[in-house]
Amino acid sequence: MKLNKSNVFQCSIIDISKTHNEAGSISIVENNKSIPFEVKRIYYLYDVPGGELRGGHAHYELEQYIIAASGSFDVALYDGKDKRTVTLNRPNLALHVVPGLWRELNNFSSGSVTMVLASEVYKEKDYIRSYQEFLNKKPNDTSII
Ligand code: TYD
Repeated sequence: MKLNKSNVFQCSIIDISKTHNEAGSISIVENNKSIPFEVKRIYYLYDVPGGELRGGHAHYELEQYIIAASGSFDVALYDGKDKRTVTLNRPNLALHVVPGLWRELNNFSSGSVTMVLASEVYKEKDYIRSYQEFLNKKPNDTSII
C-alpha cells in the first residue's frame, strides 16, 4: 500500500462549539456537519501513567480527530520532513490528523482522557508501527498534494 503525500500543515484544530450555562458545558460533534467524514469508531485513552508515550504509528487511510476530553497532552506529528507539536488542553478543541502522518502522544496530565473520532473501523493493516518503515514509504514530495 502507498502512503499519502500529506504534510503536517494539513492538520488543523477546529473549535467545537460550546454551550455553557451554570450547570456546565456541552460540545456536540455531528457526522458530516462538524467534521468532514463519517465517524465509524470512537475510542478513548485514560489511566495513562505519567511519562508514557502513546501512538507511535501512522495510518495509510484513516483520518481522525483527537480531543482532550479531560486534562491535556501533546500530539507530535511528523511527515518525514517537518515536525509539528500541538498541545490539546480544552475539551472543545479537536485536532484533525490527516492520513499518512506519524503521530506520538505524550506529556499526559494526570487523569487526562484522550478521545479519538476515527473515520475507519479498527484494521491493523492500515497501521505502520515502525518509524523506519514509515520513513522508507513516505513520499519525499510531501508539500505537493
Ligand atoms: P494501540 O494502537 O497500540 O494504541 P496507541 O496507538 O493509542 O498507543 O492499541 C493498543 C491495543 O489496542 C492494541 O493491541 C490494538 C488494540 N486496539 C483495538 O483492538 N482496537 C482499536 O480500535 C484500537 C485503537 C486499539
